[in-house]
Amino acid sequence: MALPDGFLEELKTRIRPSDLIGRTVALKRQGREFAGLSPFKKERTPSFFVNDEKGFYHCFASQEHGDVITWLQKTQGLSFMEAVEALAAEAGMEVPKSEPVSEEVQARRKSALEWIEAAQAWFVRQLQTPAGEEARAYLERRGLSAKDMETFGLGFAPDRRRGLVDALTQKGAEIADLEEAGLVIVPEDGGAAYDRFRGRVMFPIEDARGRLVAFGGRALSKDVRAKYLNSPETSLFHKGSLLYRYPQARAHANDPKVKARGLIVAEGYMDVIAFARAGLAQAVAPLGTALTENQLKLLWRAGSEPVICLDGDSAGTRAAATAAERALPLLEPGKTLRFVFLPEGADPDDLLREKGVQALKDAVSGAKPLIDVLWERELAVEPLDDPDRRAGFRKRLRALAAKITDPDVKAEYRAEFDLRLEQLFARARPATRSGAGAWRAGAGRGGKFGPPPGPSGELRKARKGDHAHPMARQLIAACLDFPEIAESHAEMLAEISFGPLDSLRDAILDASSSGDVWPDGGLRDVLGRRGYRAELARLEPDRGPMRASLGGEDADAKTRDESWRRLASTYMERVADDARIAEERARQAHVFEQGDPQAFQSFLAAVRRGRKR
Ligand code: UTP
Ligand code: MN
Repeated sequence: MALPDGFLEELKTRIRPSDLIGRTVALKRQGREFAGLSPFKKERTPSFFVNDEKGFYHCFASQEHGDVITWLQKTQGLSFMEAVEALAAEAGMEVPKSEPVSEEVQARRKSALEWIEAAQAWFVRQLQTPAGEEARAYLERRGLSAKDMETFGLGFAPDRRRGLVDALTQKGAEIADLEEAGLVIVPEDGGAAYDRFRGRVMFPIEDARGRLVAFGGRALSKDVRAKYLNSPETSLFHKGSLLYRYPQARAHANDPKVKARGLIVAEGYMDVIAFARAGLAQAVAPLGTALTENQLKLLWRAGSEPVICLDGDSAGTRAAATAAERALPLLEPGKTLRFVFLPEGADPDDLLREKGVQALKDAVSGAKPLIDVLWERELAVEPLDDPDRRAGFRKRLRALAAKITDPDVKAEYRAEFDLRLEQLFARARPATRSGAGAWRAGAGRGGKFGPPPGPSGELRKARKGDHAHPMARQLIAACLDFPEIAESHAEMLAEISFGPLDSLRDAILDASSSGDVWPDGGLRDVLGRRGYRAELARLEPDRGPMRASLGGEDADAKTRDESWRRLASTYMERVADDARIAEERARQAHVFEQGDPQAFQSFLAAVRRGRKR
């Protein structure tokens, strides 16, 4: 068993024991560990513990003890290498070549891949035969041209018991190969093997590396039990670890001409094809199940902000909630999700046919941030018309934030929830007291709350007093310490509104356009002499946070420069958002007094549009 050094260690760090074991044993967090009833012995009080940090489980009832690999060996009867392979597939790792799988198994696997390719060629050919007429007509009805069928490698499995089996065995395939490939069903009673896919339009499915490993088949006839049928799980095909058209989508998203922030996740094969036909070839789909952790990881490998596109119906809303919850522990700075809800009952496929390419593109560009989906879902649970319910709401949001593992992201979500709560409740209370009645948040939602969050607290404070927004303060403080930033971003600096710091900014621009080069701290001296001593002193406390924002004490000039630019554009967006919201609020102020729910709805929609970044 010659696995290279470090392989098992890496594998174990990628698989969290509580995730794996939690699938079959109900675990409850208990401090640093998880506890549950022993899976090895009948018991009434939990004596089974899982420790993620140490990477093991321990059962006091049975003295069983081990790591994720032993877990699969003990509970699923796998061999050591089988367990390693199963975990590696989950972790998206490749078991190195020296795998001690017997030569026979390896050869089979290789020929399974070859037979899948052969099957693909055969399915494609069948679509062109007279027997494929009905399938072609079906695809044409769904808007596909002959060229599309070719582009997406669509095929047809005739409604015969032994079409593919005969074709491939004639070419030398053994039944065991075809079984390994998931192409045939071998009856347990020893009868003759027959085709798994019959009377179906065939969609080829590749793994993340672009190897053709499986098929999805859509029934043409309405009286078939399963409208869609996939290849079975094989050593090559793990449904939860790949996404339909992932290799193509990833390549498209990474094309510098495309500038996609991430992949689009649709529900089904036909939706993915619809997106691709609309020029959005960065679309993928899971294979008929909710997104798994592995699939989320695949998404993030291809872009920082995948967009999940769902039906606006209740199933879609539930699917969004599941994906959102599953994503929380995996979030990291620059790794999030956004969501698109299509009009009730409409697939991307329908939308493309009925409304055209632009409608699809608009839907995607209107994607909602993850935090909004979480917030709105909790808001919809019940009206917030009494303190208990408000407390419950707060608690549910806290619990969601607690699921985030990354400390920085967690802190941001907490702060954002707190901010929204503060604004929501501050308005809900006086409204109730004055008898004006709380707001009803849209039909079927049942949430009661005041006008939506306006500008952030910081911005409001900033506008009222003589404090500039913290971001503005940091941006200016950065120019003082690193005048080269002011020089290279002079235009941006000039364009931004810094509120009370505007005149200091002008002085910085002035000084730096003089072309002088200052030694460390020199710009401060120059500005101090020009009468800005008090302003400079007031920015002193911002130096620490500023340096952290620019990449820390050890950051090099390039990192600082890029961080500054990023911070500046974020700030500009906030300011623009804030101005838009303020304007909208002023315009709609009377709406609140009059209590017109419809106007409130359109106001809400406008705010949401304004807020998306
Ligand atoms: P649906 O059964 O909702 O299909 O499964 P649909 O979108 O209504 O089907 P059409 O539009 O009539 O063809 C949703 C998607 O999940 C995938 C398919 O891609 C399907 O389109 N799926 C479903 C699988 O891959 N395997 C399954 O076993 C089931
Ligand atoms: Mn559909």
